[in-house]
Amino acid sequence: MRIAVVGSGYVGLVAGACFADLGHDVILVDNDQKKLAALRNGEVPIHEKFLPELLGRHRGQRLNFSDDLQEAVRVSSVIFVAVGTPPTQSGEADLSYVESVALEISGGINGYKVIVEKSTVPVYTSEWVRKIILRNGADPEMFDVASNPEFLREGTAVTDFLFPDRIVIGCDSERSAEVLRKIYQPLTDGTYYEKPDAIPQPDRASIPAPIIVTSTKSAELIKHASNAFLAMKISFINAVACLCESVEANVNQVVHGIGTDSRIGPRFLNPGIGYGGSCFPKDVMAFRAVARECGYEFRLLDEVMRINEEQRQRFLRKVRSALWTLRGKNLGVLGLAFKGGTDDIRESPAIFLVQALLQEGSKVTAYDPAATERTQEVMNSSITFVNSAYEAAHNADALLILTEWEEFSNLDLKRLRQELRYPIVIDGRNLYDPDVMAGQGFTYYSVGRATSHPDGVPAGALKNGKKA
Ligand code: UDX
Ligand code: UDX
Repeated sequence: MRIAVVGSGYVGLVAGACFADLGHDVILVDNDQKKLAALRNGEVPIHEKFLPELLGRHRGQRLNFSDDLQEAVRVSSVIFVAVGTPPTQSGEADLSYVESVALEISGGINGYKVIVEKSTVPVYTSEWVRKIILRNGADPEMFDVASNPEFLREGTAVTDFLFPDRIVIGCDSERSAEVLRKIYQPLTDGTYYEKPDAIPQPDRASIPAPIIVTSTKSAELIKHASNAFLAMKISFINAVACLCESVEANVNQVVHGIGTDSRIGPRFLNPGIGYGGSCFPKDVMAFRAVARECGYEFRLLDEVMRINEEQRQRFLRKVRSALWTLRGKNLGVLGLAFKGGTDDIRESPAIFLVQALLQEGSKVTAYDPAATERTQEVMNSSITFVNSAYEAAHNADALLILTEWEEFSNLDLKRLRQELRYPIVIDGRNLYDPDVMAGQGFTYYSVGRATSHPDGVPAGALKNGKKA
């Protein structure tokens, strides 16, 4: 089918490339000429596994780039809107980009079209999009507005798109539901997975993908509710980690004990320095705001946000309790991205903590496998950027682990100990076992577990929280 995707950001670009891999003809529309030029000459602006392969395979064939939205609407039967919905000051989603795109779309309707919300939008958006398009003279029989929320995680967005737990389509007419079923058919009838060049299947995938058809409003709510629930799960385990610290329990053991209950599940129960990224913080705030607008005070979400903020402050206190004064201290920092596997630093707790430490007069030497460039754009002067964990640790008073990159969880601990001025590691992501760190001669702080001290520490001192 002929598909237009508006917005070539983290979602639009992945969606466009994946629709092309399903066999559709895609026009990716953006109003940012720089981005379009970069895409046309083969650049891949975001760090996504398999995206370079898909863009290389389809660029100029099934996937083309344009800045002419009306022309793209005229030649397409479905238009996916994937423009940014950033938070406003008061926390609501800024829908001005969605509105301006809806306005432009209305001028290109030359036959039946399905306009599909891909961006995360509040529950009443589809009604507004419909109103805007009607107000600009479109024939009500000539279009439908649908919702098809994305559940893509950064770093694994292509796999999440092509091996989804479920495809949710929200439609208010059978006609538009049929069109969207057809678009995803290669995934729902399994034919995509038989292709020799299909993207490798992840271990947890359940194929073929189930499709869930709901009303448009329900689909819009499913997205906000999913993200808010996942954020709540993270804040819940972070709160339990705080309790573990005060009673000297071990949060990893608690996670294992509760996560084996199939109703809870072990995923998204990793305690740390709190969630970040361009979605959870924004979507929890937006969900809270839209619930209030619709007459429901969703106070639980206030607590999810409060715990998340508090988690960062607790980590800062942990750094102070390890080092006493921070002024003039040399801190090695591992990780700047908001999570492992991505170059994105939007709402990154690591960036927040680095800024706070710099403000207290520390010197920061940071290493991140992918996010250094984006960090340099916003914080060039005050940090020393290096190219390995060992360089970040060199001569440092302590090493801070702020992002859960795979490579940070299997460092050469002997070499690390030699590089550090003092063998102190403050781990915001629980990548190591406290006893192993003690055995390797480190004083090791982490989240929801007792601090461990080097083996052989003088009697009377606290070893792993107990009297040595
Ligand atoms: C966006 C939303 O921010 C997110 O909440 C939702 O879950 C998915 O869509 P993202 O892809 O990261 O996420 O947005 P962004 O990176 O801001 O990219 C949006 C793209 O749309 C940009 O390339 C921008 O140039 C383009 N755009 C924006 C248009 O083409 N036209 C516009 O009017 C506005
Ligand atoms: C999230 C949702 O998972 C995805 O479905 C939605 O479409 C977009 O938002 P993303 O923000 O890319 O995806 O990353 P995710 O893997 O969910 O992590 C979000 C944040 O939570 C990161 O800062 C991560 O470090 C943190 N996190 C995640 C935890 O602290 N603990 C966990 O157990 C999981």
